[in-house]
Amino acid sequence: MTKALIVYESKYGNTKKVAEMISEGMKETAGVETELAHVDSIDKSRLKEFSVILIGSPNHVGGPVGNVKKFIKQLGKEDLAGRKVAAFDTYIGKDFGKAMGKMEQLITKKASGFNLVSPGLSIKVDGMRGPVSEGEDEKSKEFGRKISAGL
Ligand SMILES: Cc1cc2nc3c(=O)[nH]c(=O)nc-3n(C[C@H](O)[C@H](O)[C@H](O)COP(=O)(O)O)c2cc1C
Repeated sequence: MTKALIVYESKYGNTKKVAEMISEGMKETAGVETELAHVDSIDKSRLKEFSVILIGSPNHVGGPVGNVKKFIKQLGKEDLAGRKVAAFDTYIGKDFGKAMGKMEQLITKKASGFNLVSPGLSIKVDGMRGPVSEGEDEKSKEFGRKISAGL
């Protein structure tokens, strides 16, 4: 069994929903198991159980939120070399990929031992509180399928 961890921050529930859709897509592949967790709730000593770690954040003022940045910096301090990592974000308006891109930069800088799967995923929501825009759920599932196919 290959285990994947999907961690997220989510103020209004949209990024959490994206995490759930990614998980659905991933689990279509036999032998892949997923665990979802709020970024603050995962026990760091368990990270080594996972072959892939996906990290999601809403775009707040053009970038990922503080606790997600902290999580990425922490990843770099763990002995997790060779594992896969990918980033996803949610955004409104024209900020497609902005927070995700900044997370990828931070991963490259602070968690360079990881094998970054890039580009990650950027999902549009209809306004601050969402919901996730039409058609975006399928995009999230497809991203999950793609990640699983590469494991
Ligand atoms: C304080 C704050 C700042 C935000 N700044 C941006 C921004 O600069 N660009 C953007 O596209 N969305 C911005 N948003 C909208 C969020 O991206 C949106 O609320 C989020 O994707 C919803 O996800 P969630 O339900 O997981 O919190 C902001 C939201 C908040 C609360």
